[in-house]
Amino acid sequence: MKTLLKDLGTVTAIIGAQWGDEGKGKMTDILGSHFDVLARACGGANAGHTIVVGGKKHVFRLLPSGCLHEGKPVVLGSGMVIHLPTLLEEIDILKAAGVEILDRLLISSGAHIVFDFHKAIDAAMEEKRENGIGTTKKGIGPAYMDKAARSGIRIERLKDDLKSELTARAKDVQEKYGVIVDLDTELKNIADARTQLLHRIVPSLPVLMHSFLSEKKTILIEGAQATLLDLDHGTYPYVTSSFTTSSGALQGLGMPPRSLSSCIGVIKAYCTRVGSGEFLTEEAGPIGDRLRERGGEYGSVTGRPRRCGWLHLPDVMYAGYVNGFSCFNLTKLDVLDEEEQIPVGIGKNAAGTVEYRVMKGWKTSTQGVRDWNKLPTEAREYIEFIETFTKVPVRLIGTGQAREDIIVR
Ligand code: IMP
Repeated sequence: MKTLLKDLGTVTAIIGAQWGDEGKGKMTDILGSHFDVLARACGGANAGHTIVVGGKKHVFRLLPSGCLHEGKPVVLGSGMVIHLPTLLEEIDILKAAGVEILDRLLISSGAHIVFDFHKAIDAAMEEKRENGIGTTKKGIGPAYMDKAARSGIRIERLKDDLKSELTARAKDVQEKYGVIVDLDTELKNIADARTQLLHRIVPSLPVLMHSFLSEKKTILIEGAQATLLDLDHGTYPYVTSSFTTSSGALQGLGMPPRSLSSCIGVIKAYCTRVGSGEFLTEEAGPIGDRLRERGGEYGSVTGRPRRCGWLHLPDVMYAGYVNGFSCFNLTKLDVLDEEEQIPVGIGKNAAGTVEYRVMKGWKTSTQGVRDWNKLPTEAREYIEFIETFTKVPVRLIGTGQAREDIIVR
């Protein structure tokens, strides 16, 4: 771990290289203890990572997974869209478990507020689409629509009386989308958040991040969603509405591109996707079902069964071109333990069909293995093939759910 940390340097981003749910949370949790500042840059409560607090599992959507490391500043970036009751709920869960977060939470004044009506608009828009995107219905798209239209309400406005503005907005929303806004609830949510969060708002995030950098503080940035869901570079229109890449993360935090010293690309040993859109190596039949059951592949936000299939290396390389990966964290290797053969997508032939390199399975448990040399030969060959093909080293390998189930190379 020491060598890895030295190689990572002062500012590290953890970025998903597929369609999300690669297991970024575990990596953030493990690395979190070694960094001074933990930050989340973009997205909102569409993300979901399971955190075990006081022996109980919780799905956190807004706070970064590293927030359990006490005493460390936790930054929520300007690129985020924040549903205030969800954030307050997460703060309360931590408090009940004895983890105080409020006094170290730093929320950018530039982050936008997600109102309940954004969620209702999300559902209404999805309903109308001929080919649904399969959004999480957390109001993410509509909140970013307001942001881009310059009619969004930012966290800095928490100090203001928003009644007349929201009343006018309610009328507008009803006319446009047929959505009835519960004004009293929206105003109560604002009032609750004002009491608890007003003093945690950072007026200028770039100034704060600059001061961390000047003080040589190490910063760990937890990416949300993943590269192939990026609004610019993902599989549009089946994407989210934010920028999920390393540059998107820096933009969301107001940090200069050259401040990033490393970027860890997180890839699952196979591949999953929630929602609609292309998935070339998908296994829609019994093989996909087997991967889903073994990998527990059900959405942590929506509970939807995830679509499952094989790793597709050209996609992972594409993610590398966008993000500039220093290394990979390969997750959930043990899910493949019982596979006889493991196909890996390596490109398309002239007819546009995916070509596979079929690797031999290892048929032995790798669960909990913590030493590279103790992995079965076939598992090492699988990983080495990924490295040779992508030319990116796999320096971290997840072999189970526990924090300790990881190989560091
Ligand atoms: P939205 O972000 O809720 O608008 O959803 C847009 C697309 O991104 C849908 O296909 C979602 O399933 C997907 N998506 C959004 N957030 C995540 C995530 O954290 N993990 C996996 N998929 C996500």
